[in-house]
Amino acid sequence: MTVSTSAPFDVDVIRAEFPILNKPLPKGMRPVYLDNASTTQKPRCVIEKEREVLENYYANAYRGVYKFGALVDDELEATREKIQNFIGAAEVEEIVYTSGTTMGINLVANAWGRKFLNVGDGILLTQMEHHANLVPWQFIAEATGATVKLTPLTEDGRVDMEAFANLLNERTKMVAVTGMSNVLGTMPPIAEIAEKAHAVGAVVLVDGAQSVPHGTTDVQTLGADFLTFSGHKIYGPSGVGVLYGRRELLEAMDPFLCGGHMISQVFDDHSTWADIPAKFEAGTLPITQAIGLGAAIDFVNEIGFEAIHAHEHALLEYATEQLNSIPGMTIHGPTPEHKGAICSITVDGMHPEDMANLLDRKGVFVRHGHHCTMPLHAKLGLSATTRASFAIYNTKSEVDTLIDALHFARKRLRLTD
Ligand code: ALA
Repeated sequence: MTVSTSAPFDVDVIRAEFPILNKPLPKGMRPVYLDNASTTQKPRCVIEKEREVLENYYANAYRGVYKFGALVDDELEATREKIQNFIGAAEVEEIVYTSGTTMGINLVANAWGRKFLNVGDGILLTQMEHHANLVPWQFIAEATGATVKLTPLTEDGRVDMEAFANLLNERTKMVAVTGMSNVLGTMPPIAEIAEKAHAVGAVVLVDGAQSVPHGTTDVQTLGADFLTFSGHKIYGPSGVGVLYGRRELLEAMDPFLCGGHMISQVFDDHSTWADIPAKFEAGTLPITQAIGLGAAIDFVNEIGFEAIHAHEHALLEYATEQLNSIPGMTIHGPTPEHKGAICSITVDGMHPEDMANLLDRKGVFVRHGHHCTMPLHAKLGLSATTRASFAIYNTKSEVDTLIDALHFARKRLRLTD
């Protein structure tokens, strides 16, 4: 890629790296892709990296000593080190490849939860967790006799820290919290939450699916004992994700999935486990996807989070101001200074699905629905919202197109001011 940290941030240079953004739609429209919280588009370097592996040295990982196998292993280990540095992990063995955030959380819930949770123990989450950071805990609570509690939110959609302090006690064994809400954009004060959780002896898991792509993550500064994220939300391939876990915790846990590669010795009647991270990497890894994730991390590092944050925050402020000029508009969640670049909206008189359909007619791609956060939507008194979520390649002129499309939608539905 030609983007460089020494050059000023130029969104046109960034956009040129994403072939899909430059493909015209019917009637000469360009796609205005605003569903980045769902998944991001892929830069050329990621597409090319996967192609490079597939065309030149594809083989299974950690199994063959022949040339292709050795090259794949080298790439996977180099990527593991990139990930370690990217999130500030102390050791490379603390980085486990998964299929995505959902798998990472299920892994911890099962492999840690089944072993360490007992009747009456507490699992403390928040009201805005994605189902992936709620349902696995409900499932494990049911199996272990632990209880799940949700920390309520303030009126403006932030974590109610007073309520959190009241719900936290010495029976709390796990505090699992999103790094950024996929609906409200809220970024909870993770370091403060972790400090309080550690003070009662609880373990802290951060669902980094939304936060990791948009700002610097340092698991040690945050005090995260576990952190999960997905490749496909950070410009990388789908099907690959990362679980970070502190060595001591990963070593104490039993495996989650069993099969090839995760064993040390297998006898007729029992087996022993491989060291971390292999203990948690049963079966064939997402090979090209994991290597592609390494290319995505290089891409993000080249631009730098300072520039990424400045660009996305400016877009968020602009979008907020413009959206608020639409009659009947509600933007759910806190004001821009407390959140990432996500606007989940409702407009009086317009069903979220109608909104998404009418925006699509203008080439504006947004997601509608409950966004896998039914308890949050229930709290908001809504069954659905429509969400515009931004990434490094979005522009102010795309925000203008979104606003024009919303005016078009209001007209089509004959809504009056
Ligand atoms: N978790 C993704 C979203 O919020 C799929 O859209």
